[in-house]
Amino acid sequence: MADKLWSGRLPAQLDPRFEAFSCSLPADLHLFEHDLIGTMAHVRALAGASLLQPKEAAALLAVLEELRAAGAESFPWSEADEDLHAAIERVVVERVGEAGLRLHTGRSRNDQVATASHLYAHQAAISLAQGARDFAQAVLDKAKAAGDQLIVGMTHLQPAQPVLLAHHLLAYSWMATRDADRFLAAAAHAKQASPLGAGALAGTGFALDSIECATEMGFDAPYPNSIDAVSDRDYLAELAFACALATSHLSRLAEELILWSHPAFGQVRLADPFVTGSSMMPQKRNPDSAELVRAKSGTVIGDLTTVLTVLKALPLAYMRDLQEDKPALYRAVSATEDSLRIMAGVVATATFLPVEPVYGDLTLATELADHLVRGGVPFRKAHAIVGQLSATAEELGGNFGRLTRAEFRQASPLFSDQLDRLLDPRQAIRAHSAIGGTAPERVQEQMDQLSSVLQGLDRALAS
Ligand code: ARG
Repeated sequence: MADKLWSGRLPAQLDPRFEAFSCSLPADLHLFEHDLIGTMAHVRALAGASLLQPKEAAALLAVLEELRAAGAESFPWSEADEDLHAAIERVVVERVGEAGLRLHTGRSRNDQVATASHLYAHQAAISLAQGARDFAQAVLDKAKAAGDQLIVGMTHLQPAQPVLLAHHLLAYSWMATRDADRFLAAAAHAKQASPLGAGALAGTGFALDSIECATEMGFDAPYPNSIDAVSDRDYLAELAFACALATSHLSRLAEELILWSHPAFGQVRLADPFVTGSSMMPQKRNPDSAELVRAKSGTVIGDLTTVLTVLKALPLAYMRDLQEDKPALYRAVSATEDSLRIMAGVVATATFLPVEPVYGDLTLATELADHLVRGGVPFRKAHAIVGQLSATAEELGGNFGRLTRAEFRQASPLFSDQLDRLLDPRQAIRAHSAIGGTAPERVQEQMDQLSSVLQGLDRALAS
């Protein structure tokens, strides 16, 4: 069995149960490339401080570059590797010899793993921002295709007011643009401060140029505090939170699609490639894609909870507990990426069925009340008058269409005119022309705004 990085002090073999328990591979594979990038920056800093001869540095950089190009799959892992950092150092020493033994000068795995985690979080956050942006686009495209289709908007899952289907869908697109923003912010935070040079906790005693290191890796600057540098995991918690909120948004849409695809709603038909059948009931079309997305948000919220719970009450500086934050984050990132991609496909291929509110629909009650208000009736009185009309219509087993014009006039003389307009759902939505409202011209305006927000995200992602 290979020596550990610390076997000078503790030559005894580890209990095999503990050895397996403490090993952070294969989860560390997510950090493979990032660790190599951090290690190359460190090698340059060592050379800059004359702690490595130029030839030694060149040999080390060549091996590190070679490992990076070959990728984690071709890396010669050993059963005895305690973690990724030990494994890379082992292979470097095997290939370069003496110079490899100088590699860890002025560095600890504490600043090393923190550096790699920052770089990973940055890359993951950028890719998630792209995923959220693409999902927002898929929903926007669907909203455009929805044209002037109406639906009954709901509150409390009860029929509330007519709205454009596009308006409803666009709410999810806006959520996703905020998610993309949050991922971009998480990416920026991940690259704010570089931990390299913090050493184990006290800051290295060698003249390593940590500013140069930070810049080379794309960080703004080194951490001003070395203890904070090795123990800070805020950027991971922020990313996990952004994932939890994004998947929670997706779960709301998933839930709606599941409900709407039930024949009782009959409002959507998910495309065949996103539904499954039943092993027993031949007629079934189950919305499993949406169900799994709905459930994934639970997984991701659990992962956020894991990250926060690992951090809670943890004394400074580095503690091995900090190894447990990352598998949760990896899970959260991959579940969120998958969910965004799946839901973009589900939405793009779904057919929204023309189930529209009809003439006289009870969801036009607010229009009737508003009409009375425009005629001078105080809103509370208007509410009561129309409430009474709704109750009567319901008793008759129908909607406002069941009531006679005389009954309307009796309720209020203001109903003598414009009744047909008031009872037409299409006319009703035109009235809702407040900023952000469901009136068609407002929804068009909203789609234009959304397009420019998406362009802004594209610019941010390209920079
Ligand atoms: N696998 C460890 C982690 O993920 C690497 C750092 C180990 N540091 C140490 N002092 N034991 O946190």
